[in-house]
Amino acid sequence: MQLIETVAGVKYQVAAWKAAGLTIGLVPTMGSLHEGHESLMDAARAACDKVVVSVFVNPLQFGPDEDYDNYPRDIERDSAICEAHGVDVVFHPTPEEMYGPNYNTYVVMETLTDALCGASRPGHFRGVCTVVNKLFNIAQPDKAFFGQKDAQQLAIIKRMVADLNMNLQVVGCPIVREEDGLAKSSRNTYLSAEERQAALVLSRAIFAGEQAVRAGERNADALKRLMGDIIAAEPLARVDYIEVVDGATMQPVETLGSSVLTAMAVCIGSTRLIDNFIYEEGE
Ligand code: PAF
Repeated sequence: MQLIETVAGVKYQVAAWKAAGLTIGLVPTMGSLHEGHESLMDAARAACDKVVVSVFVNPLQFGPDEDYDNYPRDIERDSAICEAHGVDVVFHPTPEEMYGPNYNTYVVMETLTDALCGASRPGHFRGVCTVVNKLFNIAQPDKAFFGQKDAQQLAIIKRMVADLNMNLQVVGCPIVREEDGLAKSSRNTYLSAEERQAALVLSRAIFAGEQAVRAGERNADALKRLMGDIIAAEPLARVDYIEVVDGATMQPVETLGSSVLTAMAVCIGSTRLIDNFIYEEGE
């Protein structure tokens, strides 16, 4: 496995693979890798000849009061995990390598980025779309793998790829959870023992919502109330949003229709966590 820090270095390797007719899978990450990322690497390994994992804490997608400086970084640990999963290249650029002097180009999406996390994190998806676009141009993947936990991000990237006629397939992979239900996230490491226990309220609410839908609930307000009441019972939790939206447009729905995303962001102490489930009609 190679650890490459320059754009030119990755492009050089990618050109050689392309010349040999090999397919490339890309797993974009910000490092602090966990089993969720590992499932993406395994999916990429199974589907493509070569696998590139990018490890880059992207300054563009953090707001001024967010955790960019404190975001966990450990490239040695991350590299070892990548190596164990058969990754061919870890791309680990510096911010200066990605955004050089006079950098001035950004990818901005319209309405899809306004709702949910986009509403509470202005500019976040501009940063995500810009860096993902750059990573696609650098690694030129045939397939790129993203987790369903960041459901809005996944929908936005699929939209961007379709809208801009990009030549790759975006693959969404299921949420990976701890045994007790908490969705895996790099930010779980911020939680104290007490907060870690309190954080279970997210998956409790998600599972209750899913169960209600399976039992026939189709009213979005009733679903939000059910989940909101569960979160409200946890003193350390503060709801940022609980929304029921169309899975493609991210616009709120009143009644669960063909493809619906129920998503939440909840702060446990100062740590903001997200979780969701998708309902597809006929499932
Ligand atoms: O999901 C993430 O870790 C990031 O948003 C991504 C896609 C790697 C872009 O920085």
